Amino acid sequence: MNIQWYPGHMTKAKRAMKEDIKLIDLIIELVDARVPLSSRNPDIDELGAGKARIVLLNKSDLADERCNSAWETYFVAQGCHVVKVNSKSGAGLKQINGVVQEACKEKIERDRRRGILNRPVRAMVVGIPNVGKSTFINSFAGKACTKTGNRPGVTKGNQWIRLNKSLELLDTPGILWPKFEDQQVGIRLALIGSVNDEILNKDELAMELIRFLNEKYPRVLSEKYGIETEDALEALMQVAKAKACLAKGGELDLVKASNLLIDDFRSGKLGRMTLELPAQ
Ligand code: G4P
Repeated sequence: MNIQWYPGHMTKAKRAMKEDIKLIDLIIELVDARVPLSSRNPDIDELGAGKARIVLLNKSDLADERCNSAWETYFVAQGCHVVKVNSKSGAGLKQINGVVQEACKEKIERDRRRGILNRPVRAMVVGIPNVGKSTFINSFAGKACTKTGNRPGVTKGNQWIRLNKSLELLDTPGILWPKFEDQQVGIRLALIGSVNDEILNKDELAMELIRFLNEKYPRVLSEKYGIETEDALEALMQVAKAKACLAKGGELDLVKASNLLIDDFRSGKLGRMTLELPAQ
């Protein structure tokens, strides 16, 4: 399957992010726990050089728990601060304040030596589309937060959310563009919903999902839809039959069946699954 996607606003977004990054001490990078590498954009390393960084394994509730632990170990070994979170339920968010202090230890110490006490850490959330940035900001900031409004020296329009006396968050996340380094990365990003669905060939994508399930979670298709075949097209046809996905005239509607299968995967109805492991 060939996925091509060149967001027209990419250059503008990159320029805007460069400006925003000048204002902050810490980057909170959200990745999707089901595809922690594919959902990263390595450009952030260059854009955020010299800034403290925390990686959040978001949507960890949808990913395989054993794989979450493997990814946590991987990121720690890379020298990153990492927290597993579920931004929708709020699980894991409490740990973040402590990790922020740890990640920004040097900055806090530098401030202290200069006689600056209690200057809040300023952070910005970044990530590719659909990774959960807005959900995270809303959950993390909660209802108690106050928007601090425009300030001198701050790009006009930027709002800061004061989370507590030691942390402020830029209220608009930085949108990183997905990076399709190879076809597999493109397929994984499409499966998690980070590529505009309209440009995708859904039945090809569904068959990729079926191949992945057959290899990694071989019982799932038979348990969920009563399917007992290794062949991807045949399996898709069986999903269509099992779920009565029929077009006018009574023939099987494979696009409908594909959407259903992909939605069941995305929403976690097929179970908690991770599409890639550190060793890969
Ligand atoms: P973005 O700003 O990075 O583009 O992502 P956004 O917050 O809009 O989240 C994209 C989708 O992911 C939303 O679902 C959101 O609810 C869901 N989501 C975010 N974080 C988590 C998480 O940790 N776990 C789970 N399970 N889902 C998460 P949606 O289908 O677009 O909306 P809705 O169904 O919540 O209404």
